[in-house]
Amino acid sequence: MRIFSGIQPTGRKHLGNYIGAIRQYVDGQDRGEAVYCIVDLHAITVPYDPAALRTGLYDLTALLLAAGLDPARCILFRQSDVQEHTELTWLLTSVTAIGELNRMHQFRDKSAAQRELISAGLLFYPELMAADVLAYRAGEVPVGEDQREHLELMRDVARRFNARYGEGLLVVPEARIPEVGARVMDLQDPTRKMSTTGSTADGTVHVLDEPAAIARKLRRAVTDSGTEIRRAPDKPGVTNLIDIIAVARGVAPAQVEADLAGARGYGDLKAAAAEAVTAMLAPVRERYEALRADEAALEAVLAAGAEKARALARPVLADVREAMGVGPPR
Ligand code: AMP
Ligand code: TRP
Repeated sequence: MRIFSGIQPTGRKHLGNYIGAIRQYVDGQDRGEAVYCIVDLHAITVPYDPAALRTGLYDLTALLLAAGLDPARCILFRQSDVQEHTELTWLLTSVTAIGELNRMHQFRDKSAAQRELISAGLLFYPELMAADVLAYRAGEVPVGEDQREHLELMRDVARRFNARYGEGLLVVPEARIPEVGARVMDLQDPTRKMSTTGSTADGTVHVLDEPAAIARKLRRAVTDSGTEIRRAPDKPGVTNLIDIIAVARGVAPAQVEADLAGARGYGDLKAAAAEAVTAMLAPVRERYEALRADEAALEAVLAAGAEKARALARPVLADVREAMGVGPPR
């Protein structure tokens, strides 16, 4: 089974990214042929600083290695190094309706937030994302809940492409969205998801926060009225903390509820969350600095990854071009 996912080299990665995505990438290395892409071309769809894009790319490469990605067991590369992604993006436009791109919730939200220019790239963001995955004929895509709609579009595009140009040309991938932790919520406002741009400072735990800061944010998390420690739709704050603890301890949420049955209230719940999350993230932080310091080594990892990625994508593009009648016949 080939596994593919992409992640943007922008902003500081937070607990939601770690639980919803990065943790699954690490697991993927044991389950199949894992291919992970740092999507710098997606990052230029909103206003950005070119120098910061470079820095952010190294930050994220080091973070992913610190979190447990192992270049010997996965392919880790930079999207813009493999031109097959941009070429396939264009080829896929032939079976994509403007209307379906225009309907994407992420496009609607992000375009509403732009003050000056709504770039054409923002509209095409999901098309590039589809090309990322389809260029590898990947079967499985680990992502958080917020990417579900983009995955559905990708699947529709792949099906339509196969119907138009030849069955079996592209693989229709499955989303792999974690059962627990697919949507980690802001600790200060548990009705909103934790995010790079939209969430509150105190409600967002960053992967590289110092342990003391992580503990402080979790101990100050907003809970709900009552004292019962159980998951419920009217207890978003408590539910969020239970889910976070479950993932950090590697147990089911029901187990966390059982373990905390004798607790004295939400103070104990928050203390347990602080302990579990600092224990989960501290090793990542400890490994990060040394990895980040050696940019030449990070470049070497990315270059080697790009080489392997190209070798996988090139034959797929050759098949696609042939089927579409693009370029010279084979
Ligand atoms: P991004 O940083 O936007 O490239 O997102 C990287 C990954 O993190 C994607 O797979 C998202 O679905 C996932 N993700 C982002 N926010 C959250 C969240 N609050 N809870 C769970 N997963 C998330
Ligand atoms: N859009 C994804 C996000 O914001 C990132 C992404 C780009 C991606 N290409 C991908 C995810 C391919 C999975 C597969 O999180």
